[in-house]
Amino acid sequence: MASIFLGIDTSCDDTCCGVVKEGRKVLSSVVSSQEEIHSKFGGVVPEYASRAHVERIGWVVKTALDKSGLSWEEVEGIGVTRGPGLPGSLLVGWEFAKGLSLSAGIPLIPINHLEAHLFAPFLDFEGEVDFPLLGMVVSGGHTLLAYSPTPYDFYLLGQTRDDACGEALDKVARLLGLPYPGGPHLEKLAEKGNASRIDFPKKILPQSYDFSFSGLKTHAVRIFQSGKYKVEDLAASFQEAVMDILVDKLDYAVETLKVGTVVVGGGVVANKRLRKKLDEFSRERKIPLLYPKVSYSLDNGAMIAGLAYFKYLKGIEFSWREDIDPSFNLERWER
Ligand code: KG4
Ligand code: ZN
Repeated sequence: MASIFLGIDTSCDDTCCGVVKEGRKVLSSVVSSQEEIHSKFGGVVPEYASRAHVERIGWVVKTALDKSGLSWEEVEGIGVTRGPGLPGSLLVGWEFAKGLSLSAGIPLIPINHLEAHLFAPFLDFEGEVDFPLLGMVVSGGHTLLAYSPTPYDFYLLGQTRDDACGEALDKVARLLGLPYPGGPHLEKLAEKGNASRIDFPKKILPQSYDFSFSGLKTHAVRIFQSGKYKVEDLAASFQEAVMDILVDKLDYAVETLKVGTVVVGGGVVANKRLRKKLDEFSRERKIPLLYPKVSYSLDNGAMIAGLAYFKYLKGIEFSWREDIDPSFNLERWER
């Protein structure tokens, strides 16, 4: 039985590799961040991102394997992000993983990056899990709700119609002169501000699984330009509004669907304020809610390796005859 999987992710600006045992036990996770390259541009420059992946991927994969204490002979399968992500960045990991799989003679499992973010809460988690899962991805590129009636296959319920929540946080952070990526810097500034100082809408697109953040962002820009409020208060009030909307969507989803466990993944769930609100939601709603450790909230290879193991057990494997569309959209949930 295949139980040691190696996972690779190069979907955006982090070169990542992890080794995982039996889908959940993380043996190593190595991430090479390109923050120093992109921060001076205030956002990810795709061409630089893919070149840096080419330079780093060999080292990252070798280091992850070394840290796991295992050898190639012990790796039984390779998971790799096929999409969605930046096309040039994705290609680096995808082609590298194909080469590894061919030379080692082990299966290759193409992984959807969004499903992997929703799987991340199960890394190093030892408890039982009640299905169906309600998943929420909160990242720099995506904000969506998904439903998983059976283990780790997620169907799309709704998604943002404009900005992702991380993107909105990053844009407002940039407006306030904070470095990229702005989410964590905005969080620090918000700690010094008063979150109830400025009013933002608390409900957006009611009775819908879809999100929208562009109105909120425009409101923040107008407030900033008015010069009437302290930046700390703007940061705190804006961040609070974004997090309230996320929790409000979960609330609507658990009202309308049968849910055993809620899982939240993606870079924004590294945010302490959001974690606190999710804990409160779980207590009040009496529903189990899991989110990953901070290091598994951000892009990482362990979530790819773990999910690849479970997909492999279901018979999912790359066929070599036909490539997969890298946009790799989640199928819509049809009741
Ligand atoms: O999942 P991720 O690492 O990459 C994508 O797939 O997008 O998410 C990156 C996003 C960025 O927008 C970043 O600002 C945000 O996650 N982020 C945070 C925090 N840490 C990362 N947002 C708020 N608070 C944080 N502590
Ligand atoms: Zn991501």
